[in-house]
Amino acid sequence: IIDQKVNALLKQMTLEEKIGQLNQYTGDNQATGPITINPNKEKDIKGGHVGSMLNIIGTKYTRQYQELAMQSRLKIPLLFGQDVIHGFKTTFPIPLAEAASWDLKAMELSARIAATEAAASGIHWTFAPMVDISRDPRWGRVMEGAGEDTYLGSKIAYARVKGFQGNLGDVNSVMACVKHFAAYGAAVGGRDYNSVDISERMLWETYLPPFKSALDAGAATFMNSFNDLNGVPATGNKYLQRDILKGKWNFQGFVVSDWGSISEMENHGYVKTKKEAALAAILAGSDMDMEGNAYRYHLAELVKENKVPIALIDDAVKRILRKKFELGLFDDPYKFSDAAREGKELNNPEHRKAARDIAAKSIVLLKNENSILPLSKTMNTIAFIGPLVKEHKQNMGFWAVELPGLDYDKEVVSQWEGLQNKVGNNTKLLYAKGCEINGDNKDGFAEAVAAASQADIVILSIGESWNQSGEAKSRSNIHLPGVQEELVKAILATGKSVVVLINAGRPLIFNWTADNVPAIVYTWWLGTEAGNAIADVLFGDYNPSGKLPMTFPREEGQIPIYYNHFNTGRPAPNETATNYVSAYIDLKNSPKFSFGYGLSYTNFEYSNLKLSKNKIKESEIIEVTLDLKNSGKVAGEEVVQLYLRDKVGSVVRPIIELKDFQKIKLKAGETKELKFRIDKEKLSFYNNELEWGAEPGDFDLMIGASSVDIRLRDSFELVINKF
Ligand code: IFM
Repeated sequence: IIDQKVNALLKQMTLEEKIGQLNQYTGDNQATGPITINPNKEKDIKGGHVGSMLNIIGTKYTRQYQELAMQSRLKIPLLFGQDVIHGFKTTFPIPLAEAASWDLKAMELSARIAATEAAASGIHWTFAPMVDISRDPRWGRVMEGAGEDTYLGSKIAYARVKGFQGNLGDVNSVMACVKHFAAYGAAVGGRDYNSVDISERMLWETYLPPFKSALDAGAATFMNSFNDLNGVPATGNKYLQRDILKGKWNFQGFVVSDWGSISEMENHGYVKTKKEAALAAILAGSDMDMEGNAYRYHLAELVKENKVPIALIDDAVKRILRKKFELGLFDDPYKFSDAAREGKELNNPEHRKAARDIAAKSIVLLKNENSILPLSKTMNTIAFIGPLVKEHKQNMGFWAVELPGLDYDKEVVSQWEGLQNKVGNNTKLLYAKGCEINGDNKDGFAEAVAAASQADIVILSIGESWNQSGEAKSRSNIHLPGVQEELVKAILATGKSVVVLINAGRPLIFNWTADNVPAIVYTWWLGTEAGNAIADVLFGDYNPSGKLPMTFPREEGQIPIYYNHFNTGRPAPNETATNYVSAYIDLKNSPKFSFGYGLSYTNFEYSNLKLSKNKIKESEIIEVTLDLKNSGKVAGEEVVQLYLRDKVGSVVRPIIELKDFQKIKLKAGETKELKFRIDKEKLSFYNNELEWGAEPGDFDLMIGASSVDIRLRDSFELVINKF
């Protein structure tokens, strides 16, 4: 029925009106790219030259803009898009932090709540999830993704799309936009917007699966990407958009360009003019032009010159109109702009509760010597020191929605407030800033040392600034900035027990701290409930369960660094061997903290591994069982990780690859039997002909608490009879 309505409408549309649907303008809020100053935007909307707007926030403004569209000849409603990346008003942890929770249900819920709030404010469409795999912590946008692993990233992509979209068409749902298609996370040198040059196999094996998974979850839209991929800009890349996405994968939604990425093909040196850019993009399958003005001013001419078949324009328009019908906007263009619902949803206490819960789950305990943590609630004096202790907005991280008029000091629970809420009047709290995040001023050290000297325990909150990671925030140096590590040294010299909190949007390097400070908690950026969630973990009201979704290097020179690498022909037999083996002569190969790593306040014992078979045919499965016991004194959650290694292949295979995981909650002393299934799909890869399938041979099975903490091992054989 929707297709009939779309076709009927299409018949009434002039060429200019059709092209209008392919044009997206930005409003004035939170621009994330260069804005073309265009005094005619409102006139263009009334004239039917605009299909969508981004960065129009709130029911009042979305309503005003929709009213303009209702004055156009055909009254086609506008779509309102926004970067709702990790929450709307209630702000959740940055996506990389949430990925550290390995809790798919929690991530789905976080996206669901974000959608509920955004949709109540008139938004129809979020530019999320970002599903770009990245093995390079220098790239500032790692904060927006799910880390380095394709399997984990694919599961998270699926959960997030489900969360955002719910039942698309409901007033509580927004369309997801899976981005950035494709391979944006492989930018050379980790520099944002830089070129990507990767093999076809790596594209299919490492970078594309999370996109496919998001599509399988029903993702309504895709965004293409700023980067060129093996020489062809993603925005003008027919192979990516028409052959893979709309062809092989049969994607029925629409593709939006990234901000100005159509016109940027001129800078890439792929086309000579903006008009040629419009031609390349539409031929390649980009349906909507985000704030680029290439389609607006050049597509009609290209059609008239017979360079662009009208069928391509019609196809793009139909894809967009279909979504507008599916959302119910033709029945009620103001369906999502409801001030009463906005007031209710944006202040829903349940949302804050969920944000606190997910924030606690995202925290990773990196070190806890002598069980310094959890802290006792009856300590006399705690010194809370560092540049991030009393900050509010910092905790929101990059890509927090800048709601007009939002008072961050009221909205965000600072780490100081979280601690106060937790200890009440039982404990005296001392504060000193110590230093700034950046810069070399040490004037505050003396005050910080004095505060530390009077305390039973010192908590130090340090890290990057929220805007040192994010879009266009690549860094060549990812060590702790400024003099913060020197502050750590000065405080540790007091002889007091010290707990360090590290706030960041990416893996940072902090070797001295890691080697010398007894307790380290990686907090990332946790959103509006940051302070409460951190206090929950510090005092054991939540037992930390996060595991790193990215490898933490020892030095930048190791980057790109990732756990699932190949063995090479000369693997180093140990960390010190350097003689004609694949190693650095000045640094270990191993990372500082490995993928999948994270501690708990309790201990988990793995035992009793059983495989239902050690030899299977293609059609058979192996049932894997094991016992997991919480052998400590408190309840806790463990992420049990199942890895495989295909010993020999027609192309070499990684030494270890995540293939499944379960997050399990156990009471103190409790034991549970866990079950995994291994089927042919889990054993498959792109072979030397780039065909997906499994090859016969031996596999190692490894189950553990991280990619380097393997607790149980076995092996099995896959038998394939070829006739
Ligand atoms: O969604 C973003 C994208 O990820 C980067 N460029 C701008 C878009 C819209 O803000």
